[in-house]
Amino acid sequence: MEQRNEPMNPPAAERKKRILSGIQPSGTPTLGNYIGAMRNWKLLEDQYDCLYMIADLHAITVRQEPAKLRAQSLQMLSLLLAIGLDPEKNVLFFQSHVHQHAEMGWLLNCFTYMGEMSRMTQFKDKSAKHADNINCGLFTYPVLMAGDILLYQANLVPVGADQTQHLEICRDIATRLNALYSGVFTIPEGYSPKIGARVMSLQDPKRKMSKSDPEDCFIGILDTPDTVRRKYRRAVTDSDAQIRFDPENKPGVSNLLSILCALTGETMESLVASLEGKGYGDLKNAVTEATVETLKPIQERFGQFIGDKAYLESVYREGAQRASRIAERTLSKAMKKIGFVAK
Ligand code: TRP
Repeated sequence: MEQRNEPMNPPAAERKKRILSGIQPSGTPTLGNYIGAMRNWKLLEDQYDCLYMIADLHAITVRQEPAKLRAQSLQMLSLLLAIGLDPEKNVLFFQSHVHQHAEMGWLLNCFTYMGEMSRMTQFKDKSAKHADNINCGLFTYPVLMAGDILLYQANLVPVGADQTQHLEICRDIATRLNALYSGVFTIPEGYSPKIGARVMSLQDPKRKMSKSDPEDCFIGILDTPDTVRRKYRRAVTDSDAQIRFDPENKPGVSNLLSILCALTGETMESLVASLEGKGYGDLKNAVTEATVETLKPIQERFGQFIGDKAYLESVYREGAQRASRIAERTLSKAMKKIGFVAK
């Protein structure tokens, strides 16, 4: 009897779930981005089929200086490699290199309502902040993002709290198209990592650590040991001099404690016990040391990658090819269902 080759694709049930996330190439990520998001990506690479995209198309919704945008994009790719993401296991690519994103964005724009977009809180915030440049891209930003996710039929999307509204609208748009055309898109879900701490601003510890705040508010992943030390030394604490985890009444001290726990893997209980009788200076020294130790190997690897243009090029070219193959399948399916003449 003739032997038949089984198809290479395993049945859907056996296929790994797919994860897609995007990160904008706008400045160096903070320690908060690292603890809350990036370091978890490394932990997912064996269990899931992961794609990480540098969202450079999203970046131009605010004005960018060309040379800086280019440099920051390569810097972000180097950082993804430096935190240990294996480019064989994860598809790492620039959004602008996969033309299907812009095309899918257009299609989805025609199935998204003005009213939905004007309710987006990030649009309201950003248009207040960039009042001189409220462009249409800024308005339809969540539609492009929906396309990013849907093109890959992603099951899970790790996003921070600031992006959950965008993920929700993505699900709405996908559900709407599926109702019209049936079976176009997988409906994605949010993914929250098992471990992760919310890292707060060093100067205003009731707010999230953000790179758009003044320098002293955040630790950048590429900050030198001296800078790290200086920023922690200036971090706000309080006047009662007691080391205790109490985010409500002692937000500054609690933030330093949770950063330390996140970096050392120690439990809060044993950490607080070990600091019994010590002062804020000791806590600041400990968190400085743990931060410097964590960042050192990342910074070393970053230095190697950023200096190796040929390697970076091979990573992003290969990434774009792999991403594009998947994206094209979804795009042509959607176009066919919508009614375009096949090429
Ligand atoms: N909008 C996201 C941010 O600013 C970045 C992003 C773009 C993204 N496309 C995405 C995140 C798709 C997750 C999935 O953080």
